[in-house]
Amino acid sequence: MAKKIAIGIDIGGTGIKGALVDVKNGEMIGDRVRVETPEGGSTDDIIATVKALIKKLPAAPADTPIGICFPAVVQHGVTKSAANISKKWIGFDADKAFTKALNREVHLVNDADAAGLAEMRFGAGRAERGLVIMTTLGTGIGTALFFDQKLIPNAELGHIEIDGVDYESMAAFSAKEREDLSWQQWAERLQKYYSTLQRLFSPDMIIVGGGVSKQHEEFLPLLDIDCEIVPAEMRNNAGILGAARLAFRLANKD
Ligand code: BGC
Repeated sequence: MAKKIAIGIDIGGTGIKGALVDVKNGEMIGDRVRVETPEGGSTDDIIATVKALIKKLPAAPADTPIGICFPAVVQHGVTKSAANISKKWIGFDADKAFTKALNREVHLVNDADAAGLAEMRFGAGRAERGLVIMTTLGTGIGTALFFDQKLIPNAELGHIEIDGVDYESMAAFSAKEREDLSWQQWAERLQKYYSTLQRLFSPDMIIVGGGVSKQHEEFLPLLDIDCEIVPAEMRNNAGILGAARLAFRLANKD
């Protein structure tokens, strides 16, 4: 039987990463390719960069579906917000523009939703029932909500206001770096953030992802949250894997 494959692309503020993915077992085929995000992050420049990146991936049939995850609300293929990216993406029909430029079916999805889909299928949330909140700690805070494995798209819980501020600006990993916070100081902010999520949603599990999750031993033990809180397992490739899997599912009604 032919392999179930799709291309996954993860567009971020500093880098764009992509890989050919075996969507059945959630593994990358060949190496992951990373290029710098073009300065200014305009729609045209990013589309051109993604097109060039795809040419560097291992050869795949011309109709291989492409899934792209993006750091914004993505509703029915239209990018609707731009917290840490160029405002030109607001109201942009990205599915249509990428499909036209790449000449095949392309689906965009919010980056945290994609990472969550990968964790629920292949990682920390596999087989987990009930309410799971996926969070990614990076430049911003991405979140994805799942109930009985089903995604409720575009939860923007990174922007919950606590103490009168959009708390992403306090608790994202970028805040730790910008303010040179110790693990303990950062954990105090994470405690406030995650206990707010816990109080508002009563989740059964919280998954903590983003690049910094590989250092989870430095900060997760410092947190006291009234539900299971676990590190992501797919780490930095979760977005690529989740976007590829979603694109395959949509293309094949799988
Ligand atoms: C955006 C989200 C995104 C998250 C992580 C937030 O600022 O509003 O859409 O998922 O950053 O990139």
